[in-house]
Amino acid sequence: MFAHVTVLVREVMEALSPAPGKSYLDGTVGGGGHSEEILIESSPDGRVLGLDRDDEAIAATRQRLQRFGERFVGCQASFASAREVLAELGWGRVDGVVLDLGVSSHQIDSSDRGFSFRSQARLDMRMDRRQSLDAQVILNSRSAAELEQIFRDYGEEPRARRIAQAIAAARKQHAIETTADLVQLVEQEKARGRRDHHPVTQVFQALRIAVNQELREIESFLETGYEILQPGARLAIIAFHSLEDRIVKTAFRKWSRSCLCPPRALRCQCGWNQKVRLLTKKPIVPSAAEVAANPRARSAKLRVVERI
Ligand SMILES: C[S@@+](CC[C@H](N)C(=O)[O-])C[C@H]1O[C@@H](n2cnc3c(N)ncnc32)[C@H](O)[C@@H]1O
Repeated sequence: MFAHVTVLVREVMEALSPAPGKSYLDGTVGGGGHSEEILIESSPDGRVLGLDRDDEAIAATRQRLQRFGERFVGCQASFASAREVLAELGWGRVDGVVLDLGVSSHQIDSSDRGFSFRSQARLDMRMDRRQSLDAQVILNSRSAAELEQIFRDYGEEPRARRIAQAIAAARKQHAIETTADLVQLVEQEKARGRRDHHPVTQVFQALRIAVNQELREIESFLETGYEILQPGARLAIIAFHSLEDRIVKTAFRKWSRSCLCPPRALRCQCGWNQKVRLLTKKPIVPSAAEVAANPRARSAKLRVVERI
């Protein structure tokens, strides 16, 4: 069973207006909720390429979407390599793209994958289990200063320095191997500070972002992501974290400008031209009813652009 409640489904469908005969990319297929809706709305012959770095997500979604036959193609890959995968399949450009960033509830709830502080597991946290970098490697090999930066930048953790120092001291005795090892260390440090929510949430989030190099993948996609869109095609991105959302907002603003020269330049020398129209000056957020039904939706922000 792959449990994940899809966020902002109606809003994403309104943005993409899936239609028959068209091709779509779901770059973060997860449990396949957005893909399924696109396939239904683009019946009888719209098609979806679904990417995910997680082999379990791809396997579960292939099964869930079996009834659509060849209209759904699932592939274990990062959305940062979407252009290459589309070229290999001979699809070229697509008529709409959705990225629903972050982790799935399935990943968090899988007790053996180390994403959650609630279950005892090896500190893994890899979305793509073919990669060698995992949370154990980071915790046992990075300097205290590097760990501090991870906890501060990706977790906005106020006690980042103390926690990083506690980890560096503890691993001299024995390696930090399990979620319980980490929880114990962080709780000891945080017990001395103020408590807002569960003391280890931010540290786990920060580590997950570092293990999967999540911001780098988004930046890499956003360098030239507009190139995979047909004219008139839309790209919809849902972010759950302020750092992710800022990266998306900045890239979309840049893509929608007609010139990147400094404001006082006498004539344009940048060679840039407008790539997209910005359709969301302010992000679209879930309705109160959606948040009540699915609290995980509360921090979602959807931004949409249309290729010129
Ligand atoms: C929030 S879930 C997507 C849920 C999905 N929209 C649904 O309705 O079930 C995010 C998914 O994106 C995947 N993911 C995260 N970063 C990725 C990347 N760079 N490339 C591909 N998939 C990624 C995760 O493994 C996870 O399965």
